[in-house]
Amino acid sequence: MNIVLMGLPGAGKGTQADKIVEKYAIPHISTGDMFRAAIKDGTELGLKAKSFMDQGALVPDEVTIGIVRERLSQHDCEKGFLLDGFPRTVPQAEALDSILDELGRPVEHTINVQVEKEELIARLSGRRICKTCGTSYHLVFNPPKEEGKCDKDGGELYTRADDNPETVTNRLEVNMNQAQPLLDFYEAKGVLKNINGQQEISKVFADLDALLQGSRS
Ligand code: AP5
Ligand code: MG
Repeated sequence: MNIVLMGLPGAGKGTQADKIVEKYAIPHISTGDMFRAAIKDGTELGLKAKSFMDQGALVPDEVTIGIVRERLSQHDCEKGFLLDGFPRTVPQAEALDSILDELGRPVEHTINVQVEKEELIARLSGRRICKTCGTSYHLVFNPPKEEGKCDKDGGELYTRADDNPETVTNRLEVNMNQAQPLLDFYEAKGVLKNINGQQEISKVFADLDALLQGSRS
């Protein structure tokens, strides 16, 4: 199954992606996670991405498109893939179409997770991430069983560098500016499916899963 999962920062892309890739056994391709891994490893890509991410700005299209092109051409994507947080601009969406055309792997589900701005701010300000596996928690909405520790592997939980109040405000603004033209692009193709992301995590997943199984158009 080939899936594109879009949504503003904090919409729950990562939370839902974890559940989908586990159920459908497909690779989870998050451009944000790829950039954070590159920063951690101190690679050239990490150096390029860091200054943009620290400000809550988008990493330039040519850099982002390049890493997605390379990742999608790997063997494990033959069985399907879930793109989380890509595309985010119209040029990225156009590039994705041509990459997938070349590879002969069209997207089957183009999904946008909708959440109001006030809720996004509340989610991002209380988010905690596992240092080892990257699982997202929330101090109030989705707390771990044991404070400060990941339920899955006991890893230490930390606050993402771009979840501070100033960066969150800028990230939301930048992403909101790009989102409408991107959604219009997919709407015009007649492929966009919206999901109400402002529900319990389990309910959002149930709706997504129904959509993926074709029981919701
Ligand atoms: P990225 O890592 O993709 O960040 P983002 O888009 O800002 O989205 P988040 O990861 O913050 O949110 P999410 O939707 O995954 O929410 P989550 O599930 O964690 O990108 C980071 C940066 O990299 C960008 O700013 C940019 O610089 C760069 N970048 C990445 N992709 C790029 C691209 N394509 N082009 C250019 N630059 C790019 O959930 C959030 C919180 O809410 C958690 O605490 C969670 O527990 C909680 N939560 C989740 N669901 C619910 C629910 N239903 N109810 C209550 N709480 C919930
Ligand atoms: Mg995420």
